[in-house]
Amino acid sequence: MSGSRSAKDFFRPLAVGAPAPLTEIPARPSRAIHFFDPSNPKMAAKIPDMVGKVDVLLGNLEDAIKADNKTAAREGLVKIAQETDFGPTQLWTRINSLDSPWVLDDLTTLVPAIGDKLDVIMVPKVQGAEDIHYVDRLLAQLEAKAGLERPILIHAILETARGVANVEEICAASPRMQGLSLGPADLAADRRMKTTRVGGGHPGYLVRQDPPKNELGVADINAARTTYQQDLWHYTIARMVDACAMHGIYPYYGPFGDIADEVACEDQFRNAFLLGCVGTWSLHPKQIAIANRVFSPSVEDVAHARRVAAAMGDGTGAVMLDGKMEDDASLKQCLVMVELAEQLAA
Ligand code: GLV
Ligand code: MG
Repeated sequence: MSGSRSAKDFFRPLAVGAPAPLTEIPARPSRAIHFFDPSNPKMAAKIPDMVGKVDVLLGNLEDAIKADNKTAAREGLVKIAQETDFGPTQLWTRINSLDSPWVLDDLTTLVPAIGDKLDVIMVPKVQGAEDIHYVDRLLAQLEAKAGLERPILIHAILETARGVANVEEICAASPRMQGLSLGPADLAADRRMKTTRVGGGHPGYLVRQDPPKNELGVADINAARTTYQQDLWHYTIARMVDACAMHGIYPYYGPFGDIADEVACEDQFRNAFLLGCVGTWSLHPKQIAIANRVFSPSVEDVAHARRVAAAMGDGTGAVMLDGKMEDDASLKQCLVMVELAEQLAA
């Protein structure tokens, strides 16, 4: 592999007109963002044991936390953060939405109390750059007041039609932007999609094979035909991945609500990984193992990528390996795998 080139040169170009990064975004693994309810003492008690076993622990303050428990969740998160050494695991939180009565208290409580421990703040229901500007300015004031030196990064959930329409400007709205997640439940509702599932496919979203023709060339529409289930989320994930790549930030899948269906969960996560996502949410401890497996490149893929890199020498020209053509472009694909493997092994 040529010494001066890395996948980063190709994968995270600085976008024209985008603000210069405030700091280099920490390229720490975040394959599974495991959600917990800090107002639930049973769940909170398990957090110290999860440190080191998951890339990100996220104290959730928004949806799934009852209105009566918002204060308890906020205070619970402060307590957990102050009492826990997170080691290699990142600590994130999901604050309440910007149109809620709780969000100001979320930020003014969390930043002074545990701003030194919080890596990323996830902002739900982001509609456009103005939402990110608001959080960015508020964070700057609160960080300055608290004397924090390390900026807290922002992660936006893409879960409104307007947010999807504005995805590029959201990515570019602040040098604090760390990444985006898909929010399929809120997004489905906002778009008036007719699915009640949280993420995943739908048995009604199909394409059907063409009918066979009889000897006269007439289509037999009554013949048995195979149907193929399609992915409801492909368009949004692809848009999200492009916007993130353009601005050098990280795309993530989101929640997969059918906890029992581990096979379908793995399929959804793998599709997202193949399309460019770096991680996903975990709503149950068993989804952590699925995410860690899926969002790590396979040993075979990494070995192949290293072979291509070695065969390509200075990184230019073309070579034949196992009957397949490799060149400058396929080397770049391989370097993405190698870089991810190295990041995960570090
Ligand atoms: C997540 O927040 C979702 O709405 O799917
Ligand atoms: Mg949501």
